[in-house]
Amino acid sequence: MISQATIQQILSRIDIIEIVGSFIKLKKRGTNYLGLCPFHNEKSPSFTVSPAKEIYKCFGCGRSGNSISFLMEHEKYSYAEALRWLAQKYNVEIEETAVSPEQKLVQQSADSLYIINNFAQKFFSDYLFNSEEGQNIGLSYLKERGFREDIIKKFQIGFNPEGRDVFAKAALSNQYNLDLLQKSGLVVVRDEKPMDNYRGRIIFPIHNPSGKVLGFGARVLKTTDKAPKYINTPENEIYVKSKILYGSYFARLAIDKADECLLVEGYTDVVSLHQAGIENVVASGGTSLTPDQLRLVKKYTNNLTIIYDGDNAGIKAALRGLDLALEESLNVKLVLIPDKEDPDSFVNKVGAAAFAEFIATNKKDFILFQLETSLKDVGTDSTKKSALVNRVAETISKINKAEDFTKQQDYIKQCAELLKIDEGGLHTLVNKFLREKITKEENRLNRDEQSYNNDNSSPQPLDIEDDAASLLNRDEQHERAIIRSLLEFGLKQWNEEQRVADYIFAEIKENDLEELIDNKSLVSVLHTYQTWYHEGLEPTPKTFLYNEDQVMSSLVVSLMEYNQEISPNWKEIFEGKIATREDLYKEEVFSTINYLKLRKLKLLMANNQNDLEKTTNPEEQIILLKIHQHLKEVEINLTKQLGTVIFK
Ligand code: CTP
Ligand code: MN
Repeated sequence: MISQATIQQILSRIDIIEIVGSFIKLKKRGTNYLGLCPFHNEKSPSFTVSPAKEIYKCFGCGRSGNSISFLMEHEKYSYAEALRWLAQKYNVEIEETAVSPEQKLVQQSADSLYIINNFAQKFFSDYLFNSEEGQNIGLSYLKERGFREDIIKKFQIGFNPEGRDVFAKAALSNQYNLDLLQKSGLVVVRDEKPMDNYRGRIIFPIHNPSGKVLGFGARVLKTTDKAPKYINTPENEIYVKSKILYGSYFARLAIDKADECLLVEGYTDVVSLHQAGIENVVASGGTSLTPDQLRLVKKYTNNLTIIYDGDNAGIKAALRGLDLALEESLNVKLVLIPDKEDPDSFVNKVGAAAFAEFIATNKKDFILFQLETSLKDVGTDSTKKSALVNRVAETISKINKAEDFTKQQDYIKQCAELLKIDEGGLHTLVNKFLREKITKEENRLNRDEQSYNNDNSSPQPLDIEDDAASLLNRDEQHERAIIRSLLEFGLKQWNEEQRVADYIFAEIKENDLEELIDNKSLVSVLHTYQTWYHEGLEPTPKTFLYNEDQVMSSLVVSLMEYNQEISPNWKEIFEGKIATREDLYKEEVFSTINYLKLRKLKLLMANNQNDLEKTTNPEEQIILLKIHQHLKEVEINLTKQLGTVIFK
């Protein structure tokens, strides 16, 4: 791991304008810089970079972040890779920290597996091209199937000899460790002797996106055998099937360029399409897509086109996981290859141009496709149909990012047509699912809201229909405002003894305010700040911006975004000049804390009211009434201090 000292050194040299500027053209506009957003297509620039805040934000697509997240998004780097890139740019020597013995073992084991795989890949390729057996059996098979030599070489395809342990012997005589060879799946132990696991098979190496060999798929030559068609690498430190897309290393540039990723089932499909010049292809290995694989696709493009054999029984299963793709704003299309062909055989039959043409004209939207196939199953059964309508509504409700609004409306229209139901009705149903989701997610907050209503002694049903989002929003704004004040003003003096951070922590503790903060990520920012602060560090937004925890870092970015006005009331004319938030930080801190206190108070009053309604004991009633009176006074006081009546 890169040491904290190195990270600090790197961070102290970061110049966001220089970093972003090395990928896109920026123009100075006031205190900020402006350019064309690299993350979406636009003609007039809305991508803003603030050197002061060290963050960027696109007002077109909403993406925002810091130098590191820019490198992670734009260059698809991992956090560590981004740091290494910066270290090189700014000539910072990287110091690695000591890792725990377990971490070291895992790391060593992973490194060794890469080394073994690399050796094996070279061995198999060499055997394929340079041995008689390889040429006669392996290479001739591949050529018969129509694979060209340059493509076989590009994909580093190889051949494992048929003998019992030809590879194992070579590996062991090169000092590779038998345990690791077994872990890699290349060698098994039978009758207490090492034996090649992939005897007599064609070997497809599986690369990670930067080209290292993670494992292998080994195909039999004769499908008449009882043996399984493929033997794949077992799960180990580096081969994690659910995170792998075959071909991603060879496809990444083409995917970027085409802004589309084609997904097929098999290794041979990927290789054949490449050979035909269609390079933006990856394979899932015949199983349905996992969330990790979807995320991998999303690193490169939002457009995923799934290409399947038309008569494949697995289609439905494969599509099942795809609701998740909608939540991730991926556009998923589907193409079925006709006549019992698969992409490999089809492209060989019709040629590259006709294949591309076929894909382009037969792409079907996946939601509509799913609906059409389900409609066939449903027939005239009305129970089944209403279940289907519900399922469709639920699927559509998953599209709920603001920027996808039009897409959602389109789906509602088209699906209503296909289902022959009223569009408005489907709309209402989609909203119902959306509401259910909001209610579920924000359950606790909702309960708070209900308590408020009870407090008015005339409980009103919560009108989730229109107001859920904005109600939830209002409380969340207050929570965010506190954390924002802490980040921005925490290190300023509050009074002679205390800094703002001390005051905020004391208030939160004394009044048990933390439990009111519903957004757990905000709470973790609070805790992290507290820990750092008490360790004697001086946390600033910047400290968070470059945190490895991307959730926290992007939360802080969103808190510090431009044009965010939290307490416009304070922007009053003050001694002839416009007072800024900076001038009035004490008022802001004070008021944000008071908002939360007021919420707490409302909760206490509601509980008190509840107890009051329940009890028939006059003495208890008197005590509760006194408490009520006291709380009311505190409330009036607080409200006065705030200067405005915020709650009804
Ligand atoms: N697969 C597997 N194990 C099997 C069969 C299939 O892991 N026993 C995976 C492989 O990743 C394979 C994919 O599912 O590439 C698709 O299977 P299939 O179409 O049968 O294999 P292809 O690679 O297309 O081989 P071919 O074109 O020679 O039929
Ligand atoms: Mn196939």
